Amino acid sequence: MNSNLTPTTKGNILVVDDTPNNLRLLSEMLTDRGYKVRQALNGQMALATLHRLPPDLILLDINMPGMNGYEVCQKIKADYQTRDIPIIFISALDDVLDKVKAFQIGGGDYITKPFQVEEVIARVENQLKIRRLSLQLQEKVERLQQSERIQRDKASQLEDTLHKLKYTQSQLIQSEKMSSLGRISAGISHEINNPISFISGNLTCAEQYFKCLIHLLEKYQKIYPQPQPEIQDIIEDIELDFLLDDWPKLIYSMEVGVNRICQIVRSLQVFSRQNEAKLKPIDIHESIDHTLILLHHRLKSRGEADGIEAIKDYHHLPKVTCYASEMNQVFMNILSNAIDALANKPPPRVITISTQIKQEEKSQIQEGEDPVLADSAIIKIADNGCGIPAEILQKIFDPFFTTKPVGSGTGLGLSISYQIIVERHGGKIKCNSTLGKGTELVIELPIISEGLGASP
Ligand SMILES: Nc1ncnc2c1ncn2[C@@H]1O[C@H](COP(=O)(O)OP(=O)(O)OP(=O)(O)O)[C@@H](O)[C@H]1O
Ligand SMILES: [Mg+2]
Repeated sequence: MNSNLTPTTKGNILVVDDTPNNLRLLSEMLTDRGYKVRQALNGQMALATLHRLPPDLILLDINMPGMNGYEVCQKIKADYQTRDIPIIFISALDDVLDKVKAFQIGGGDYITKPFQVEEVIARVENQLKIRRLSLQLQEKVERLQQSERIQRDKASQLEDTLHKLKYTQSQLIQSEKMSSLGRISAGISHEINNPISFISGNLTCAEQYFKCLIHLLEKYQKIYPQPQPEIQDIIEDIELDFLLDDWPKLIYSMEVGVNRICQIVRSLQVFSRQNEAKLKPIDIHESIDHTLILLHHRLKSRGEADGIEAIKDYHHLPKVTCYASEMNQVFMNILSNAIDALANKPPPRVITISTQIKQEEKSQIQEGEDPVLADSAIIKIADNGCGIPAEILQKIFDPFFTTKPVGSGTGLGLSISYQIIVERHGGKIKCNSTLGKGTELVIELPIISEGLGASP
């Protein structure tokens, strides 16, 4: 309850007593000392006046007809608006039991008749002092609580801003990374394309010419089965039989090499898809395959025995409408993480990529509306690598969260993938992992029928 009690005001006192003489005596005593005094002849009157004008202290007679002082006190203490007003009991009784009861039900002090002026004033002043101090304390606590609330609000605003900042920063880095990666791969593939088609075209001619020369040689050998010693020397010198046997193999391996370079160039082009900033239907399997080609050097080590095996468990998937280069980025991030997780693991090291359609009940449609397809593509990329501890699992999609040594991870791969899947394509991504056993990333992408598109 509000109180006007300040360190300088003397205070309002309500005196409740059924004996008019006592009332007068106490009132004069207190008024003389500068207190404002109100009087009540019984409990009912006292209670009625309390709410209208709350006093700072109540002097309450115990023995009154009707409602006695204890009952009045209990009522005052039961009401949250009046319970803090201090009460001093007045009684002619000097019984220990009564005093105990008075304190038990919330009385602050006790004075006995006949009154000693100085004692009454000292006790009244004491109670008012306690009341003032508790009001000040209450005010301080409220101020503290308020400033704590303000601090908490500020901290949460700061946290929010920091989160937004990190998010924006990660997007900036991502778009910078993608555009420079796109430029570089487009440039490289363009530069390599010409010389490679040149080599690949000439290899066919070289093979043809070689066949002609062999034909000529065989004719010579038939017509001149006994060559001159000088010719014979050369034949032995160059190991003609071996040469004739090895040459086609050589050409073949060159063709394989050239084809592989062509494949990488094509994958680079698909990966960067510089001109494909728009939504378009893509073949998810093709995207994954091209990403695997680009990661080939990290999958199979030279000895092959301790390489990483990529197992494809593809099922039919219709084309999925999405931002192609961003989707490639997701596969690159997840596959790179899987390869990292297998780094220190003894063989067998396996990455399994499985795909399937999830048929979901078509969403409720209104009459006259086009049906909305609710199928989605599920892509699971699992590794049998180190796995992720449970306490870390919930942080892996946070921007800049990484457990990799400084310089080898920026902690952006998964947060960017999350943004791409969830925010750009309205899909879902989640991670299941068991420490020491492996990790599985599950992507769910809505298959949008043509004509509809995810919002950019
Ligand atoms: N397949 C996985 N197996 C084990 N831990 C993983 C796997 N994928 C992600 N993590 C954990 O999640 C963290 C965050 O991955 P994220 O791809 O976002 O960043 P990063 O790989 O550390 O760095 P960046 O991808 O930016 O180079 C990793 O540091 C790693 O601790
Ligand atoms: Mg990563």
